[in-house]
Amino acid sequence: QHVLDFCRDVPKSEMHLHIEGTLEPELVFELAKRNGVATHLPTVEDMKRALDFKNLQQFLDLYYAACSCLLHEQDFFDMTWAYCVKASSQNVRHAEIFFDPQTHTERGVAFSVVITGISRALEQAKRELGMTSALIMCFLKHLSGDDSIRTLEESLPFKDHITAVGLDSTEIGNPPSKFKAVYDLARAEPYNYRCVSHCGEEGPRGDYTEETIIGDMWKTLELLKVERIDHGIQSLRSPELIKHLSEKRIPLTVCPFSNVRLRAVDKLEDHPLKKMMDSGLLVSINSDDPAYFGGYCGDNYLGVALALQLGLADMAELAANSWESSFLPAVAKGARI
Ligand code: HPA
Ligand code: ZN
Repeated sequence: QHVLDFCRDVPKSEMHLHIEGTLEPELVFELAKRNGVATHLPTVEDMKRALDFKNLQQFLDLYYAACSCLLHEQDFFDMTWAYCVKASSQNVRHAEIFFDPQTHTERGVAFSVVITGISRALEQAKRELGMTSALIMCFLKHLSGDDSIRTLEESLPFKDHITAVGLDSTEIGNPPSKFKAVYDLARAEPYNYRCVSHCGEEGPRGDYTEETIIGDMWKTLELLKVERIDHGIQSLRSPELIKHLSEKRIPLTVCPFSNVRLRAVDKLEDHPLKKMMDSGLLVSINSDDPAYFGGYCGDNYLGVALALQLGLADMAELAANSWESSFLPAVAKGARI
């Protein structure tokens, strides 16, 4: 079987996907029109032109601005359903999906509106597409620890819809220690959420040194007690970290197209994914924010196979890793691979 057919056909699990990052420009404008919201960008073409990012922050500015078109439950439903249809067409059979409640509650949209719209689409995806899912509630690193605790408390009535908590947004200047308290609360009764976090996405720049990055990765593991690290590509800078992550089989959810578009990696041909596999790390391929970074999960598999000249054995390992890295119970994982 040709490796490219395999990339398309192999059943995949996706663990690093921001549902707000699946808002295609066309849908942003459709929802903005439906809701009478003024977007800061006059046309779909302008928005597509703005997709040339210098770093993570420049992307985040556009991503949060586009979210202003989301007001009603139906908007969250339409966004989530569009993702499920697209991902399912690339044989993503299971997705553990991030959502950012603070991005919406800050604008006056109720927590219940956000989670009900998303959950209703995920239930329909299970029924009509046979696609299973879990929800991961992310706190924004650029907001305060107290704000994240208020958000955790707001999630209580919906805790049965939520599997885990995560952390995303601006990494520089927002160390894991800011969120130790909310993670301690989230892990315990009455929530019993599992824990993941973005970390080790961007390389050193100015005051944000290699030492800070590696230190933040250790603190993410030790203070926040995460089961999985989102991105984590900077771990290659530390042999001790590689050893720990490999021995404990802590999954790293890697997003190749994202790393290139946000300039953590110069070009796809330079992506450290294969190096990470060869170092014994448990890495998977994910799409992060597919509407912004040039492709969905299967597109990332294809892109990486071509750019890094990976064979069937490598791609099969990556697909198997995607199931091992998921929160599905061991029995269910075996049945999917
Ligand atoms: N990193 C940090 N925050 C984010 C990302 C990301 O890749 N995507 C959406 N929010
Ligand atoms: Zn992400």
